[in-house]
Amino acid sequence: MTSHAQPEPSAAAAGGASAPAGRYAPWIPIRSLSSRHRDRILAHLLALSEADRYRRFGYAASDEQIARYVDGLDFDRDEVFGVHNRKLDLIALAHLAYPRADSPLPDAAEFGGSVAAHARGRGYGARLFEHAVLHARNRGLDTLFIHALSENTAMLRIARKAGAQVERAGSESEAYLKLPADTLASKVEQWVGDGAAELDYRLKQQAHLVDALIDAIGDVRAHLGKSHSPTAED
Ligand SMILES: CC(C)(COP(=O)(O)OP(=O)(O)OC[C@H]1O[C@@H](n2cnc3c(N)ncnc32)[C@H](O)[C@@H]1OP(=O)(O)O)[C@@H](O)C(=O)NCCC(=O)NCCS
Repeated sequence: MTSHAQPEPSAAAAGGASAPAGRYAPWIPIRSLSSRHRDRILAHLLALSEADRYRRFGYAASDEQIARYVDGLDFDRDEVFGVHNRKLDLIALAHLAYPRADSPLPDAAEFGGSVAAHARGRGYGARLFEHAVLHARNRGLDTLFIHALSENTAMLRIARKAGAQVERAGSESEAYLKLPADTLASKVEQWVGDGAAELDYRLKQQAHLVDALIDAIGDVRAHLGKSHSPTAED
């Protein structure tokens, strides 16, 4: 959690890739978000249940508190990224907060993320975390940390599987993942992944427009059909 909500067809739904042989899609398009996306970010977070809000923010954030958090997102300083489904709804979201000037860990970024309830268990959470690892590493940082409730098995499992050290302090836990230094390969991986996610989004946007156009043509036809339907006077 960083201090500062008809099931999707399949894990491949976000990527548009064919279903993987394994449990999770081999790749999912994770797109960087900007201030233009505040409304979608807000809609995603407001759809979280009270318990999920507690897990995500460390307190049962009210709608107003979530709105303030979204308004306060600084897209120049931090990174916010997400996964869109075919309807262009945000089904997974992550905030990678980079260190502030007064941060006790000047080379550490903090991860906070959420996956829409209907899209969980498909690997999106783990992929968001991997994406954050890559971006933080390419910024030259050496640690990624998560502040999570100790009961948050899914989040702590993601962190542990990535190799993080988890320090439990009662009901709360901190997970610290040491990041390897960036390399040309890690930079290229980020560049290719971001480019492919952008392309995927554009294709979904076009498909969405075509669907809307087909619906509009259907409406016009239905309307014309009604106005020309034979009456007793015809
Ligand atoms: C935490 C969260 C992001 C995980 O998202 P997700 O897409 O369901 O996670 P994944 O599908 O990648 O699963 C990650 C691992 O956790 C396990 N897992 C998922 N849900 C679980 C649950 N309820 N209990 C135990 N393990 C669980 C998965 O089996 C998987 O482990 P595996 O790879 O060994 O099989 C999601 O549950 C969520 O949005 N929770 C509410 C907000 C929150 O807690 N945010 C984290 C605060 S930083």
